[in-house]
Amino acid sequence: MSHLFSPFKTGGLTLKNRLVMSPMCQYSAVDGVANDWHLVHCGSRAVGGVGALLMEATAVSPEGRISPDDLGLWNDAQIEPLRRITDFVAAQDCVPGVQLAHAGRKASTTSEWRGGGGTLSHCAGGWTPVAPSAIPFDEDSPMPDALDRDGIKKVVADFRAAARRADLAGFKILEIHAAHGYLLHQFLSPLSNHRTDGYGGSLEHRMRLLVEVVEAVREVWPEENPLWVRISATDWVPGGWDEAQSIALSKVLKKHGVDLMDVSSGAMVPHAKMPIAPGYQVPFAEKIRAEAQIATGAVGLITNAAQAEEILKKGQADLIFMGRELLRDPYFALHAGTQTHVHVPWPVQYERARPKA
Ligand code: FNR
Repeated sequence: MSHLFSPFKTGGLTLKNRLVMSPMCQYSAVDGVANDWHLVHCGSRAVGGVGALLMEATAVSPEGRISPDDLGLWNDAQIEPLRRITDFVAAQDCVPGVQLAHAGRKASTTSEWRGGGGTLSHCAGGWTPVAPSAIPFDEDSPMPDALDRDGIKKVVADFRAAARRADLAGFKILEIHAAHGYLLHQFLSPLSNHRTDGYGGSLEHRMRLLVEVVEAVREVWPEENPLWVRISATDWVPGGWDEAQSIALSKVLKKHGVDLMDVSSGAMVPHAKMPIAPGYQVPFAEKIRAEAQIATGAVGLITNAAQAEEILKKGQADLIFMGRELLRDPYFALHAGTQTHVHVPWPVQYERARPKA
């Protein structure tokens, strides 16, 4: 029996298999609006047989963009072009999802392939980022403004409004980005959150903004549609966010209607030493799944069908999130079916090309 090609129920939805395209910024939008590139990027992976896909970190406000080229859902004009994509993806029996994000102190950069990911200066169209505390990401990053109460309220309202637009755009899975050193992770981690009010200090206070965002999103996001949260399970730095706090957070988020934790790690501080190797983040997904009793997704250097199958078979995670391998091979799922002798549905248009078993 194939675990990779078995269906998975999340919220009120059933995915046809366990393979999810991990969100990946394309830095190809203008004014946050999706275009043909996003259609083909997502459409190819949907044609290629993944059970679900998550569109890239999509900003809930202009100041929450990593770069000027990010996708956004902060205004209604951004809805229709996304609807075209979700309609196509859903027609391939792939569930369309979106990752809602706010970059916090890591905002206002040039996108990787337009300017190398460095700070975007004010005169080049950049802006002053916001953060829990006035602590820059590194010595080259701009000093962020610490959010006041009204600023925090706006972040929560922006996530709520973007979630409503995501629903109108036809997305069925919504993932909140609370990983990789972006705003919600910045509130979680003691390394970036030095606040002394109700949003800093104790674990409960550091988790508060994320809990408020989850509550606000749940108010407008259809009950039957799954809500996922991506976290960095550890900052890989002593005294930072860690596995024990991730387990505690997952237990709290489960009570607030989160269906799955998508477990990544790192990117909070530039100097962290990460033991990067095949499947290196999988043990975090396994531990959170066992201890918080919540479904998890494993991600990070999972590149072949046998490896994915093993993770699922051992009960380390419920879903496999795949990034770069799907960029190399949009038809990974179709090929994996052939390799593991599972009769995976091919697009009818391509059926004549299916390798003979
Ligand atoms: C990413 N990643 C990422 N993660 C995320 O949560 N939101 C995002 O928008 C992006 N953007 C992004 C762009 C590109 C080009 C890459 C390669 C990666 C991280 C990605 O989702 C995944 O977690 C990592 O790439 C690790 O998985 P793989 O690539 O080893 O399967």
